[in-house]
Amino acid sequence: MLTLGIETSCDETALAVYDPNKGIVAEAVYSQIDLHAIYGGVVPELASRDHCQKILPLFESNILNTININDIKLIAYTAGPGLGGALLIGESFAQGLAAALNIPVIGVNHLEGHLQAPFLGKNKVQFPLLTLLVSGGHSMIIDVEGIGKYNILGESRDDAVGEAFDKVAKLLNLRYPGGPEIEKLAKNGIKGTHKFPIPLSDKDTYDMSFSGLKTSVLYALQDMSEPTDQDKADIALAFQDSATEALAVKVRKAMIKTKRKLLVCTGGVAANTVLRSKLIAISKEAEADILFPELKHCTDNAAMIAYTGYLRRDLASQSYKSLVRSRWPLKMLTEIHG
Ligand code: KG4
Ligand code: ZN
Repeated sequence: MLTLGIETSCDETALAVYDPNKGIVAEAVYSQIDLHAIYGGVVPELASRDHCQKILPLFESNILNTININDIKLIAYTAGPGLGGALLIGESFAQGLAAALNIPVIGVNHLEGHLQAPFLGKNKVQFPLLTLLVSGGHSMIIDVEGIGKYNILGESRDDAVGEAFDKVAKLLNLRYPGGPEIEKLAKNGIKGTHKFPIPLSDKDTYDMSFSGLKTSVLYALQDMSEPTDQDKADIALAFQDSATEALAVKVRKAMIKTKRKLLVCTGGVAANTVLRSKLIAISKEAEADILFPELKHCTDNAAMIAYTGYLRRDLASQSYKSLVRSRWPLKMLTEIHG
């Protein structure tokens, strides 16, 4: 039984096919990064139009060259959260194809997709576990007791950490998406040149905050008449240290409290190597295992959507009504699904 996964919630047009016996057997991602780079962020209308133009050719050339269309027995697509227009392109494609093939569809929550991404290709998942979900839209610490059992311990009160990386990158005149650019630039930075605050680190909460940190970077830049490349690298390093430490402080606290023996980190920011090493150190302190998705499955992809749709297949249906929701918090996960 093959499950086709479709992801169009933001600026990646992604398709993948999951086979429960073999794992991911076909996968394609078309990134719109170049289209949006000059605007310093994703332009929703351009994203929808581009998904519309790319999705069918991507399916024909990169998926149907590997599998037989009639072997697809379920279609899983991202129904939210994300950009409304962009999500509707994925849904229309999913439902049109499902109707033609006379098979069910399932609308998958993008965040649940990120939560499941680290387990792709793994045999048995050891619940309960603690997950740090860090992306362009979310920063959350979640106590996971099983599939669908997500207890959110803390989240960002303002910007998501990935969003902060993107905004600071813009201040430094770096390309979008900012995370990888800041990580690269920070390698040339001199430690200790700047010290930014570690937001909410001394507060008795698992919540996080990143907008003040971004403002501190802005003030540091305003103090310099013309920042040199070295100045920018020093700022990138200090920002990355504070942002990752702000996450690490809360994860350490949550690991001590919950005593979980598996720590998982997922989402686009999970690609950051400084964050990874801090989390590895925390897992050692807690005598816990640690798991990250493969690098290509940290950022948005359809493999995680196909896999999550397969896990949730009991909720699939052939009613083909629209399930798209630009806002779909994890805590309301049970509300829609088909
Ligand atoms: O999960 P994702 O692809 O999309 C959302 O669901 O938001 O995450 C994208 C975010 C962007 O904000 C990007 O700057 C960030 O992940 N990111 C990184 C790195 N790679 C991607 N942040 C820090 N370091 C990285 N290496
Ligand atoms: Zn995402």
